[in-house]
Amino acid sequence: MMMMKMWSRCVVLCLLSALLLFLLQSVEGFNLETANHVRHNGPSSSMFGFTVATYKERGNSWVLVGAPEAQNDYQPTVRRGGAVYRCTIGEDDNCQMVPFDRKGSNLDTQGREIDNKSGQWFGATLNSAGENGPVVACAPRYVYFTNKRDRREPVGTCYVSRGEFQSFSEYSPCRTALHGYHRHGSCQAGFSAAISNDGERLFSGNPGAWYWQGQVNSIDAQASFPYTPGKFGGAFGSGQVVQQSL
Ligand SMILES: *[C@@H]1O[C@H](CO)[C@@H](O)[C@H](O)[C@H]1NC(C)=O
Repeated sequence: MMMMKMWSRCVVLCLLSALLLFLLQSVEGFNLETANHVRHNGPSSSMFGFTVATYKERGNSWVLVGAPEAQNDYQPTVRRGGAVYRCTIGEDDNCQMVPFDRKGSNLDTQGREIDNKSGQWFGATLNSAGENGPVVACAPRYVYFTNKRDRREPVGTCYVSRGEFQSFSEYSPCRTALHGYHRHGSCQAGFSAAISNDGERLFSGNPGAWYWQGQVNSIDAQASFPYTPGKFGGAFGSGQVVQQSL
């Protein structure tokens, strides 16, 4: 009886392995366009191309490219904080870094660092609202020290650009007083993000909120700052959607 069971298990496993091998050998890569393509290269070891989004403003089309380990030209004091590039669609190697954030660490009133943007993976998340709309780019590994500077919390943060990359604002929905991994401390906000097509709503996926139950923020993209979501009690049941009042 025992032998029979083992034998049938083996047959199933063998069949599955054979199927897997068959599938593996039939997977091949190919280029969609080999003659008329545009090619953009990023700095080495910057993970250029980790995210890509299309973007169009005033009739001009662009491709936005995230490079989460790039050294950002606008943040010399930050080590490899990541960057988002705006690249043309008609010419090779024609990309410019977009100045979503021109600051190094944020400082407290005594000039001491209260966060760390080095290694924050800015550009690991990228979404565009479509034609003439805003663009959101996030740094899910952004670390906040809290006001007392006694913690290191991966709260994550996002930046939104509007008006053809003329104005930028930061949205960090978990950089609140609710520190600790049991609350907002490990949110990694901006692990995913989206902007509605009309540009009015910003969504941020925060997988580490509330003991890694996760949370989604729906934020008024025109909201003034500093943005802090509403407080909620007894939040220990399931994942959450936090909706800022309209
Ligand atoms: C900031 O993060 C980087 C990369 O993770 C690390 O090497 C550096 O020590 C951190 N700095 C502070 C002040 O925590």
